[in-house]
Amino acid sequence: GLPDSVRIYEVGPRDGLQNESAVIPVEVKAEFIRRLAAAGLTVIEATSFVHPKWVPQLADADELLDRLGPMPGVRLPVLVPNERGLERALRRGVTEIAIFGSATETFARRNLNRDIAGSLEMFAPVVARAREAGLRVRGYLSMCFGDPWEGQVPIGRVVEVGARLLELGCDELSLGDTIGVGTPGHVTALIAAFGAAGIGPERLAVHFHDTYGQALANTLAALRAGVRTVDASAGGIGGCPYAKSATGNLATEDLVWMLHGLGIETGVSLESLVATSVWLAERLGRPSPSRVVQALARR
Ligand code: HMG
Ligand code: MG
Repeated sequence: GLPDSVRIYEVGPRDGLQNESAVIPVEVKAEFIRRLAAAGLTVIEATSFVHPKWVPQLADADELLDRLGPMPGVRLPVLVPNERGLERALRRGVTEIAIFGSATETFARRNLNRDIAGSLEMFAPVVARAREAGLRVRGYLSMCFGDPWEGQVPIGRVVEVGARLLELGCDELSLGDTIGVGTPGHVTALIAAFGAAGIGPERLAVHFHDTYGQALANTLAALRAGVRTVDASAGGIGGCPYAKSATGNLATEDLVWMLHGLGIETGVSLESLVATSVWLAERLGRPSPSRVVQALARR
């Protein structure tokens, strides 16, 4: 069956903006996050403490968090790949981080400059130290369905690497369809395979990019399989700079429209959210790709 409520994990400020080539002023990013919170989103991935040369758009992570200050009632996780990133995040008072692994060797090398084993070695002390410091830790797993260089990714391999990330001490594992090629039957089979390995849907989140227009259908399949945390980006903006052919995430507005239609609570005001995405689109200089934003902004 379907749940009464779903937790939306908003990734617009991080996944959505990381690929923008033109520099976005830090105040625009801060205002974006404040508006998302005002629309009712309670988990907003704010930025990344990665190498500034790898993702120049998020090089202002320190300044952004200083500007935001604490936001009562809102969790602001950040991406952290290594101990250097963790130190930077801890200095800014971060209380929640996400590490990000890959199910494929090619993407691990391209995104993290290491093979899978090497990236797990890099993450282990990060998770251990973060937990010691009382932080909540999410683990992302990229390329859970297909990989632009390796093709379809075997489910057994995804479960194996996902289980390793959880064993490091992650509270939650977010299954990434980085290039958006997954389809609902594949989602159902993957979640079932995790279940067979002793990892239930309550420990999983889903992270769908909408490249092939499958994100909403895939989300519904995940909800039917018991997943209760869904990643989305306001306005459907974004893409990964290290994965060719990745477009934006499932748009938060498209997700909220579907969930509310199903009678599932989100706590999000669709009207405020659409206004926020229209406001951001003006700053980015192009319209939101979200169908729901386009439909509601016209009304
Ligand atoms: P590396 O070059 O192997 O790093 O990069 P290193 O450990 O060899 O260090 C080299 C230098 O970088 C050192 O400086 C470090 O201090 C510095 P030096 O001693 O030479 O002067 N350095 C740092 N500086 C600031 N902050 C740091 C940091 N780390 C090292 N954190 C590294 C390895 C992991 C750092 C690099 O590959 C990297 O930053 N990768 C990030 C890539 C990225 O952010 N990709 C996008 C996010 S993932 C995604 O979008 C997918 C997701 O949405 C899910 C999905 O859709 O599937 C999550
Ligand atoms: Mg992503």
